Amino acid sequence: MLEPERAIDRLQAAFDPPDGYRTLHAKGGFYTGTFTATPEAAALCRAGHLAAATVPVTVRWSNAGGNPRVSDEEPDIRGMAISFHLPDGTVTDLLAQTSPRFPVRTPEDFVAMTAASRRPHTMLLWLARHPSALPAILAGAKAKAVGRPSSYAEIPYYPLHAYRWVDADGNGVWVRYTFAPLGRREDRPEATFTGPDRLRQEIAARLAAGPVRYEMRVQVAGPGDEPHDVMSVWTNARELVAGHVDVTAPTPDPETRGCAVVFDPTRVVDGIELSDDPILRYRPAAYSESVSRRTRSREE
Ligand code: HEM
Repeated sequence: MLEPERAIDRLQAAFDPPDGYRTLHAKGGFYTGTFTATPEAAALCRAGHLAAATVPVTVRWSNAGGNPRVSDEEPDIRGMAISFHLPDGTVTDLLAQTSPRFPVRTPEDFVAMTAASRRPHTMLLWLARHPSALPAILAGAKAKAVGRPSSYAEIPYYPLHAYRWVDADGNGVWVRYTFAPLGRREDRPEATFTGPDRLRQEIAARLAAGPVRYEMRVQVAGPGDEPHDVMSVWTNARELVAGHVDVTAPTPDPETRGCAVVFDPTRVVDGIELSDDPILRYRPAAYSESVSRRTRSREE
């Protein structure tokens, strides 16, 4: 297996980031808001944030690459990480991005693909050697996953991995989430935003006028739908609306006050279980290595 230290070495070599930033999703901002579940979700899953009326959330919108000074005019995948703060003080996270499908099923391939994607000719060579990635890359192109969105509020985000929801009686179903935007063109602020930080400026203006809302949808796996492979496409799933995320205001980056903030896709609570997806299982070790490097470099 690719050692997490080597994975971070290779990703940092690809982006050559300045010290003190995330290895990927280096440019981003923090926001606060709330999550309100639907009764349909609460019936399928006993997790505390689905049972409660409304819980607070912390959100971080980001650009996917490792360059913290990248212009928002550059095409990129965008990220939306969410921490749900449960009434009992525990926290569970979902890390989503704009690509509806994932092109690889091992950490080694993810790191090689990300490094190759820095240049068109190396990406083409990588693709020629990994034709199984093509359907997901084409689905991403169709969805404009690597784009120049007008707003964080108008694009969908996909956490991609499957999680098992367990209800009050111990019955389980596998689900995959989508955060579908309810922000519309008509809600755009009057001012026009251009330049390297236009997404942050646009969302601040939008939030000043009211919350930015997403529907949290889940696909519930049907017979034959594979939960342990991030590349699998579910063909027998049904979909339901599991709740709403309302992002309400920007909040200062807590890391500027010295505390490290880690969003972790394996941080789950009672009522939610992990699949054996090798990408999902690998991510915490890679993220820990990234966090310890960025916090260590600040202390030196
Ligand atoms: C083996 C596969 C992956 C590796 C090695 C990887 C690596 C990383 C690293 C090193 C970070 C920075 C962590 C930090 O310093 O806090 C990061 C952040 C992030 N990743 Fe991944 N990643 C992988 C797969 C994914 C997938 C499948 C998704 C989404 C479906 C995703 C979404 C995100 C998001 C949204 C962030 C930003 C979190 C934040 O705002 O703090 N990653 N990733």
